[in-house]
Amino acid sequence: MSRHKVTVIGAGNVGATAAQRIAEAGLADVVLVDIVEGLPQGKGLDLAEAAPVVGHDARVLGTNDYADTAGSDIIVVTSGLARQPGMSRDDLLTRNAGIVRAVVAAAAAVSPEAILIIVTNPLDAMCHVAMEASGFPRERVLGMAGVLDSARFRAFIAMELGVSVEDTHAFVLGGHGDTMVPLPRYSTVAGIPITELLPPDRVQALVDRTAKGGAEIVALLKTGSAYYAPAAATFEMVDAILRDRKRVLPCATLLTGEYGVDGLFVGVPVVLGAAGMERVIEIRLCDDEAAAFQRSAAAVRELVEVLHA
Ligand code: NAI
Ligand code: 2OP
Repeated sequence: MSRHKVTVIGAGNVGATAAQRIAEAGLADVVLVDIVEGLPQGKGLDLAEAAPVVGHDARVLGTNDYADTAGSDIIVVTSGLARQPGMSRDDLLTRNAGIVRAVVAAAAAVSPEAILIIVTNPLDAMCHVAMEASGFPRERVLGMAGVLDSARFRAFIAMELGVSVEDTHAFVLGGHGDTMVPLPRYSTVAGIPITELLPPDRVQALVDRTAKGGAEIVALLKTGSAYYAPAAATFEMVDAILRDRKRVLPCATLLTGEYGVDGLFVGVPVVLGAAGMERVIEIRLCDDEAAAFQRSAAAVRELVEVLHA
């Protein structure tokens, strides 16, 4: 079997942690890229030196040169600015759009068959920038947010009910912002909807905490935003694609009429496999859920319109 190659752009908190997970799982060789000289080289070498102890043979290379990324199967984009306290995801829009446009153009030029996983915020708008900069079809441009938001929801459900996280399942759809749409009816413990297990006020409390999950970590860290769970969520998407697992995961994808939305990246359940986004799964939403989804899509559209203004 030939070795897979994953490029991770941005050797900061999320990028380096994702690189560590991918390499240490032996999933692929990893090329870590950053604009800061020495940073990706130092972290890459440090990760390579951990390999004998961890016991994996994945190669890790840190570089500032996109030539080293040529022929990647997956390009993960984490480069950009992270949220600081008091800063909304949307404040990041213009500055991160410039960064994402530049790095995607450079990386896509030397890996024309790659699948892009965008992480940089504001997530859904950055997916639009990445799609434009790469010229890739929608199947090969995905955004990571729903897996993270659903993981947070699952963690809170497990804490609330004192059950294993393994038995929890949750779906959070919509844009990765304050308007995201956690779906309690489709969030379960061992297949039982949490709406059957918890009173409405507790369900609402978990929904609210999920929607503010990113801000909760920013307020605690004070100097940056979450990265362990975001890196784990990114890893899950990389794993699903490289191992052609056909996982059903909520990801930002370009909707072309599904859920009544056309021409916009929004988080919905998709099948992830070797071809990238292989299928959008449309689940039936009740009136309130559908209205919340449309509000969230409208918030994404506002940002995209700012970018195109
Ligand atoms: P960080 O500040 O630790 O790392 C960002 C890295 O990007 C830095 O090393 C920086 O030098 C690099 N960078 C900046 N401009 C670059 C360029 N032009 N080319 C290459 N590298 C460049 O930030 P962190 O915590 O890793 O977060 C990264 C991004 O991911 C942020 O935009 C953050 O908001 C976003 N994020 C998104 C999540 C999601 O659910 N989609 C979850 C967590 C973070
Ligand atoms: C998060 O949700 C900052 O978007 C990032 O943690």
